[in-house]
Order: sequence, then structure tokens, then C-alpha cells
Amino acid sequence: MNQQPLRVLFVCLGNICRSPLAEVIVKSVAQDRGVADMFYFDSAGTGNWHVGHGADPRSASKALEKGLSLDNHRAQQITAKKIQDWDIFVAMDHDNQRDLIAMGASPDQVWMMRAFEGKAHAPDVPDPYYGGAHGFENVYVMLQQNAQGLLDELQKVAKQRD
Ligand code: 4NP
Repeated sequence: MNQQPLRVLFVCLGNICRSPLAEVIVKSVAQDRGVADMFYFDSAGTGNWHVGHGADPRSASKALEKGLSLDNHRAQQITAKKIQDWDIFVAMDHDNQRDLIAMGASPDQVWMMRAFEGKAHAPDVPDPYYGGAHGFENVYVMLQQNAQGLLDELQKVAKQRD
């Protein structure tokens, strides 16, 4: 087996609401499958406003409610300088996808989080920051619905590198 884990970065705008939740959900599915060692997961935002901050309390409590934790999360920013550090980016929305490609990621490296629902075009995971608590449950459900399909595809890529 390839010694290096596949490096996967979940990306949203602020790295306090959507991508930290996506990261812990997919990590937990990988642990349940016994394949966590194949991956190095992290998350980042394209914006810098919240760098160093913890997760949004509404995302943190949603995680807790589902048996997950965002206690150790600290927001970070993805920039052009750090694009080379990653094998795959999982974008929450099409703005994130566009921004990552503009930073130098190749289009086939940038996957959409909601590409695993059988739709012709992946919908966005909507930004819940300015909405109410319901938006966070909505985001959680979308992430959960795509986590298994995403991990299936990530495992294929990781195996191809063996
Ligand atoms: P996220 O949500 O991209 O899911 O982390 C946001 C958090 C903060 C802001 C926007 C979106 N903001 O404009 O500060």
C-alpha cells in the first residue's frame, strides 16, 4: 500500500460552519469503515475573516447533537501558496470551486460535496451563516447524505495510487 495518505481538504467560505462539519462527518464514516488510515482530512475557508477562530457555535452544537465534536477546530484559510499540499478538494458550493481553481487547483482535483445524490449537476451546500438553526440541520442532512458516496470515490482514488 502507498505509505502516504490521500490528502483531502474540505472547503467553504469561512471554515466555521460547513466544511468543519463535513470534515468530522466524513472522518467518522471513514473510521466506521476502518479506512481512516488511508486519508488525511482537514478543512479550510477561502476567506480569512475567521482564521484562528473555533467553529460557529451552531455547527458545534449540531455536531454534538449527532455524537461528533468540533471542539478542536480552528479555522484556517486556503491560499494559492498551499494548493500544492492537497490531492483532492471537496467544495461546499460553486463559489468555493471557482475560487480553488483560480488559486491553481486543477478542475479534476476539485470535487463538489453534493455530487453524490444522483443529480446531473451537484447543488450547493447553502451557506447557513446568516440563517437560523434550521439551516444547520439542513446542512448536516446534506453532508450526511453525501458522505458514503464521497468516501466510496475517495477510496477508489486512494487505491489507484497503491
Ligand atoms: P461557512 O459559513 O463558509 O460555512 O463557514 C460562513 C461563515 C462566515 C461567513 C460566511 C460564511 N462570513 O461572511 O463571515
